[in-house]
Amino acid sequence: MTSTPTLPLRDGGAIPVVGFGTWLLEGATAYQPVRDALDIGYRHIDTATGYSNEEHVGRAIADSGVAREDLFITTKLPPDHAGREAQTIEESLRFLKLDYVDLWLIHWPVDGAAAPPVWKQLIAARDRGQVRAIGVSNYSAAFIDELIDATGVTPAVNQIPWSPRDHDEKRLAHAADNRIVLEGYSGLKRSNLADPTLVAIAESHGVSVPQVIIRWHVEHDIVVIPKSAHRERIAANLDVFGFALTSDEVTKIDALAG
Ligand SMILES: NC(=O)c1ccc[n+]([C@@H]2O[C@H](COP(=O)([O-])OP(=O)(O)OC[C@H]3O[C@@H](n4cnc5c(N)ncnc54)[C@H](OP(=O)(O)O)[C@@H]3O)[C@@H](O)[C@H]2O)c1
Repeated sequence: MTSTPTLPLRDGGAIPVVGFGTWLLEGATAYQPVRDALDIGYRHIDTATGYSNEEHVGRAIADSGVAREDLFITTKLPPDHAGREAQTIEESLRFLKLDYVDLWLIHWPVDGAAAPPVWKQLIAARDRGQVRAIGVSNYSAAFIDELIDATGVTPAVNQIPWSPRDHDEKRLAHAADNRIVLEGYSGLKRSNLADPTLVAIAESHGVSVPQVIIRWHVEHDIVVIPKSAHRERIAANLDVFGFALTSDEVTKIDALAG
């Protein structure tokens, strides 16, 4: 089994560029897909307190037998848990049966604001060793700047909706300038899988359109976390390292942004 390439994080460590998403795999339905993903070779799993599945993700991780140091596990703080951050991370760790998570994110801005006090609680959790890296999700560049101004600490990751139609050079530049890894979510859902440009590129490589979309993220050094409940799709979504897109193909896909 070949290992998935990683991107370095400013907090240290490295994040596998393709991970497994678990939103809507609620409760016990998360168990088998996460087992399948780990069996197939995924080493990066994305969950959240809000997905109500940490306990079952944790069981799948434990039963997989994969060594902890080979795994990258992300969970997220719901904005309505502001003020009880310490209890929330303790609960996540208990459900996940882990001593630490690799990445803890503020899931959404808190009451529509950047919320430096909440960010300070993530920094404290990192200082306690409960989380290795900290970041945000669904944050604008301006909100990230506000966190940096308030604390001097830059998020390692921003997890945001991303797909060919969302391609945004300014967003990429802000992340690169601040050494923030962008993590795209809902990349398949947000795409037109019948788009003629994507279909033609997929056919020319003998791969599927979802594989082209996932590979396009990889070409941009954007972490991508496709979710599927089906083993064959889970396998196909990780099978994107046997081909590469040309720079011309990447440019054509970038141009699908409206
Ligand atoms: N931070 C946030 O606010 C946020 C928000 C949304 C999502 N996320 C994270 O990002 C992950 C991915 O996003 P997502 O789950 O919204 O969407 P996604 O991964 O883009 O798409 C999932 C959908 O695509 C289908 N699918 C998966 N692989 C496929 C394939 N090879 N061919 C055809 N269809 C395929 C799945 O169906 P089947 O399951 O039936 O195969 C499912 O309906 C989430 O699971 C979650 O971990 C984070």
